[in-house]
Amino acid sequence: MSERPYVTLSCAMSIDGYLDSAEPHRLAMSNAADLDRVDDVRALHDAIMVGASTVRRDNPRLLVRDAARRARRLAAGLRESPAKVTVTSSGELEPDAAFFTTGEGPRIVYCPQDRQAQLQERLGDRAIVVGLGDDCVAMAELLDDLGAQQGVRSLMVEGGGTVLTQFLGADLADELHLVVAPFFVGEARAPRVVGPGAFPWTASRRARLADTRRIGDVVLLRYALSDRFGMLEPGSAAAGREPVSVELP
Ligand SMILES: NC(=O)c1ccc[n+]([C@@H]2O[C@H](COP(=O)([O-])OP(=O)(O)OC[C@H]3O[C@@H](n4cnc5c(N)ncnc54)[C@H](OP(=O)(O)O)[C@@H]3O)[C@@H](O)[C@H]2O)c1
Repeated sequence: MSERPYVTLSCAMSIDGYLDSAEPHRLAMSNAADLDRVDDVRALHDAIMVGASTVRRDNPRLLVRDAARRARRLAAGLRESPAKVTVTSSGELEPDAAFFTTGEGPRIVYCPQDRQAQLQERLGDRAIVVGLGDDCVAMAELLDDLGAQQGVRSLMVEGGGTVLTQFLGADLADELHLVVAPFFVGEARAPRVVGPGAFPWTASRRARLADTRRIGDVVLLRYALSDRFGMLEPGSAAAGREPVSVELP
């Protein structure tokens, strides 16, 4: 596998392309069977990433839930759950968020260089804070650091839309798992699955639809976005990989 981690983007949207509502509480898009599928995909990766807004709004734990999957990871010499990754410009992350307080694995926070020291002090030994760039972090540099410095060879990006937009726009994703939930949100202020941008896949350069699956009342669309597509499939060369080498400071 090359040094830049394999990237799987994963999210669930409404029929009209929203990730959530604009209401104070998160809108559940998916169903139990699909959440179990997402858990299975999580268990295949070295690290899971969400944007800082998702950490603040959803307070996700980002752990592998199923005991059998955790046991399989342990038997393979991996931690029970993947490392966790987030990115922030503002540095507004609470050390007692579930992102930082649950699970045993490393939590890696990327931020602009001039915020690094202050944020590391704020988060203490709950995270490794890596400073990259001036105003915002380039996702290509983040991936290069994850691969070269943090020992991460596969990254699952679970949103939100701001982060997904950057991976897609910079052509950094190997596959996209897009779940469509059977309802509309219809609120202009709600977050969309992607923002405006120049994307590599256009009407004249179409993405490859690799698979579709009905899962109860939702549908999964799986797109192949690079020639590395499928490298994480069980049985592929990348499936029997070594543990992530990141250690907490
Ligand atoms: N349906 C789904 O599958 C799903 C999945 C995940 C999330 N969501 C929903 O999506 C919504 C959040 O999405 P969102 O698009 O608003 O936010 P997001 O992508 O979760 O996070 C955006 C934030 O990440 C930080 N960030 C992003 N790119 C950066 C860069 N290049 N450099 C530095 N920092 C960067 C910034 O944090 P700072 O503001 O700290 O600077 C930015 O405000 C929530 O409502 C959540 O519930 C839905």
